[in-house]
Amino acid sequence: MFDRLEALPPDAIIALMQQCQADDRPDKIDLGVGVYKDSAGNIPIMQAVKMAETQIVADEKTKTYVGTTGRVTYREYMLSLVLGAEHPALQAGRIASTQAAGGSGALRIGAQLAFTAAPDASVWVSTPTWANHIPLIGSAGFAMKSYPYYNRDTLGVDFEDMLTHLEDHAKAGDIIVLHGCCHNPTGADLTPAQWDRLIPFLNKRGLLPFIDLAYLGLGHGLEKDAYGVRLAMRDCPEALIAVSCSKNFGLYKERVGLLAVLCETPDQTQIAQSQLGMIQRTLISMPPDHGAKIVERILGDPELRRIWSEELTVMRERMRGLRHQLSDALDVQGGEHIARAVIDQNGMFSTLPVTQDQAITLREDHAIYMTNSGRINIAGANGDNIPTLATALLDVLS
Ligand code: LMR
Repeated sequence: MFDRLEALPPDAIIALMQQCQADDRPDKIDLGVGVYKDSAGNIPIMQAVKMAETQIVADEKTKTYVGTTGRVTYREYMLSLVLGAEHPALQAGRIASTQAAGGSGALRIGAQLAFTAAPDASVWVSTPTWANHIPLIGSAGFAMKSYPYYNRDTLGVDFEDMLTHLEDHAKAGDIIVLHGCCHNPTGADLTPAQWDRLIPFLNKRGLLPFIDLAYLGLGHGLEKDAYGVRLAMRDCPEALIAVSCSKNFGLYKERVGLLAVLCETPDQTQIAQSQLGMIQRTLISMPPDHGAKIVERILGDPELRRIWSEELTVMRERMRGLRHQLSDALDVQGGEHIARAVIDQNGMFSTLPVTQDQAITLREDHAIYMTNSGRINIAGANGDNIPTLATALLDVLS
């Protein structure tokens, strides 16, 4: 039967990562896959993670199953990290949740839950969005549609276009995928004032937010980055949030995530909770435990939490510093608007006005790796290579 299958092209981001790994030019600059790198170019294990892991390995007595929705304490700690312990939706018992295999696992379970409830809904994603959103959420069965978001000329968010488009084309019951902070791939985020307009807009039209929160703490800090998510969970009747611990805990390959589902009543929440367990059971049976246990240990131990939060601050500030350095280097004739955007954008990514051909030239002629859409991961740069990067960028863009 397998002779009926057709070969597929590799995933663009993963293929780029492998292509860069295979490039033996010593001065290559890897701005591809979204992983945090330190100034030496390493993808470090956070100290708090190492410490928690050491304790866990010493204490662990069994590898028995945990359950389909994962660790209860992990979920509680994560919800209070994301929402704040006093959040009204938590206090009202309106949030169902499940541990998930990464933010992607959370997105997939959330999509399945929503599709079970509303198969006729369409799911709307920003243009552009993380390339995997469309197959990942679409594989639940949804019709996937897009709304305007990033303007490649101004390098900012076209907020009015976004609202107008959704107003004209989305129907009540549709699901709107939003990026909680550090928009992937553009780094262009909604401001608090825009969230303040967006949430009532969605509520008025019966649209349900599905917020992907993969970079909490890497934009402006844990509290500020959660602004939109907290607002949605306070004011919307229903919402979905997919949280990832890949980047802010550096736990990429451990696959740690959380799906939170806001329901209208505690009774509906109980029902959704039972569905989450069964969906996970059907997809992968149970989520992996090790990484979630690390996060649980860190969040539950004041000293480990302090160390983690300081390390997260270092990561965030390093990326902010690199943005300033790149911006200064690009702030010459012809590069001024890119220089401004790089500062205004948040987190790991910016999408530069680079065409596919220019991205290929940068790769082939300058050993600079970015996606063909012009997305850079700023954490892949460092103080030494930013002048080279800026010169090559201005060169191909001129
Ligand atoms: C990225 O966008 O580069 C990361 O989220 C890694 C991935 O899985 O695509």
